[in-house]
Amino acid sequence: MTVLIAPSILSADFGRLAEQVSEAAEAGADWIHVDVMDGHFVPNITIGPAVTAAVRAATDLPVDVHLMIEEPDRYLSAFADAGADYVTVHQEVCPHLHRTIERMRELGLHPGVTLNPATSLDTLVEVVPEVDLALIMSVNPGFGGQSYIPSSTEKIRRLRTMLDERGASGAELEVDGGVNVDTAGAVSGAGASVLVAGAAVFGHPDGIAEAIRLIRSAAEDGGATAEKGETEEEDAAQVGSWSRRSVD
Ligand code: DX5
Ligand code: ZN
Repeated sequence: MTVLIAPSILSADFGRLAEQVSEAAEAGADWIHVDVMDGHFVPNITIGPAVTAAVRAATDLPVDVHLMIEEPDRYLSAFADAGADYVTVHQEVCPHLHRTIERMRELGLHPGVTLNPATSLDTLVEVVPEVDLALIMSVNPGFGGQSYIPSSTEKIRRLRTMLDERGASGAELEVDGGVNVDTAGAVSGAGASVLVAGAAVFGHPDGIAEAIRLIRSAAEDGGATAEKGETEEEDAAQVGSWSRRSVD
């Protein structure tokens, strides 16, 4: 499976934002991830529609807006006007999540939904057929540069199964938080199709291009290992239980 890389501008140099976005695009980034925080849903405050519009103007890549805000419905049209392509809302702040998704669709956005690490995947089971993107938070949202929560890998695997079983295989499965060269393989191997990376891209000592190359290569290795594991599992099942091998 081809994995898309979505650098998060949260760790970019905001004084040179357009330049950093162009650099990421030239380095082969697939999407640009924009983290919007309100100081209520999460303890940090970042940016809003005006900066999103500046990102839009700096690139032709899809702009992927992650709303970590309360009452996101109030701001959907502002982000649509700012040129967002994908907008992702948190289940925890959307009592009428289905309606919110419908509204995003009406505005011409690709609707996305996400969950905090402590929130059960079951809360998405009814809406996954309606979305274009489902995002697993692999850190508690609010800050860049945190460590990947290891239990996220199993959650990604379960979400992949849920998407496939609910007829939503075409939706992107995005993972956000602590993705770097060490974790990208497991994330992609578990079934992610879009990897967000902030600190690992904009904070890499060898620059943005090298960072993206390394993360992509780790993700492709992880995806290939997972596919090989599945093939081995199928082969073993055909041969019979006496020859069953471990695929871990
Ligand atoms: C966290 C944000 C992430 C963040 C990821 O609340 O949603 O998008 O930028 O940053 P890293 O890749 O540094 O963990
Ligand atoms: Zn994010």
